[in-house]
Amino acid sequence: MPKSYVFTEYGGPETQAFVDLPRPVPGPGQLLVAVHAAGVNPVDWKVRAGYLREFLPLPLPATFGTEVAGVVEEIGDGVEGFTIGDEVFGALPLLGGYAEYVLLPVQTAARKPAGVSFTDAATLSVSAATAQQGIDRLNLTPGATLLVNGAGGGIGVAAVQIARGLGATVIGTAGPGKAEFVSSLGATHVPYGEGVADRVTAVAPNGVDAVFDLVGGDALYAVAHLVADKSRIVTAADPTAAAELGGGYFQVEQTGDTLSPVAALVASGALDPHVTTVMPFAEAAAALAQVEAGHALGKTVLTMR
Ligand SMILES: NC(=O)c1ccc[n+]([C@@H]2O[C@H](COP(=O)([O-])OP(=O)(O)OC[C@H]3O[C@@H](n4cnc5c(N)ncnc54)[C@H](OP(=O)(O)O)[C@@H]3O)[C@@H](O)[C@H]2O)c1
Repeated sequence: MPKSYVFTEYGGPETQAFVDLPRPVPGPGQLLVAVHAAGVNPVDWKVRAGYLREFLPLPLPATFGTEVAGVVEEIGDGVEGFTIGDEVFGALPLLGGYAEYVLLPVQTAARKPAGVSFTDAATLSVSAATAQQGIDRLNLTPGATLLVNGAGGGIGVAAVQIARGLGATVIGTAGPGKAEFVSSLGATHVPYGEGVADRVTAVAPNGVDAVFDLVGGDALYAVAHLVADKSRIVTAADPTAAAELGGGYFQVEQTGDTLSPVAALVASGALDPHVTTVMPFAEAAAALAQVEAGHALGKTVLTMR
């Protein structure tokens, strides 16, 4: 039977296990996808820890994973626009991605461009889509100075590249070990921690025009005063801080219409999701632990085939 990686109850990594589950049968509006690759994201362990339990109560055991890429093997009733054999990627709003087979809703699915690998495509529904939508909210003009807070992680790497593509000057905070990596994306690297605002000011003496935050909490409060117009602070990480500061928090929208443009960016070479860690499915625990440690370099992906 196909394998899935689940958490059996809310809690720590000790609740994680591989289980054999029957190959699912697609219902109306669903694609049965043979998964080639699944993205690993902070939300995966946050759901397991119960942080989202109030908003997303799940029958347990629940299969990890909110984004995949693979090949359509069966289609449910009423599906239009997809056929068996299509290479697709997409989002799983109710989890299920760390599995050899998933039921992908057509509303959150998109075709994978031929030139985009399954491992890259598996990262687009969460990180790259969030980066694109966060940058869109900031309406950056060429020459604007953007601070990306958390530039070395999954969303950050995409956000830096998309903003650079719009002609913005980008400053990216990240750990000291990521200076070369963040610079290679086209941003000026600033190490976070004590004195971070002074270090940003040293490279942007007139302040910054906008902040795209991917960390939240103290790390966001430490730099928020650098932007004069607080409505130009957008965070994907901290709704509470956004409300207190007068900035904006958003949740990524995952539809074919929002996912296809980011895949097109990758296909054109304008965006590299920087999949720096690819692990076989059997090493799901290690992959998730790496992301849970909070210092991911670009994206981590599991491969099922
Ligand atoms: N709202 C939404 O729709 C949405 C969608 C996706 C994700 N998210 C959330 O957005 C956040 C970022 O996601 P992600 O996928 O980019 O996470 P990620 O891949 O784990 O990256 C987070 C990055 O932040 C860096 N970091 C840690 N502390 C920092 C600090 N004080 N200052 C600057 N950088 C710091 C980490 O590495 P270093 O410390 O090594 O630099 C890491 O590279 C998470 O909270 C996630 O749950 C929200």
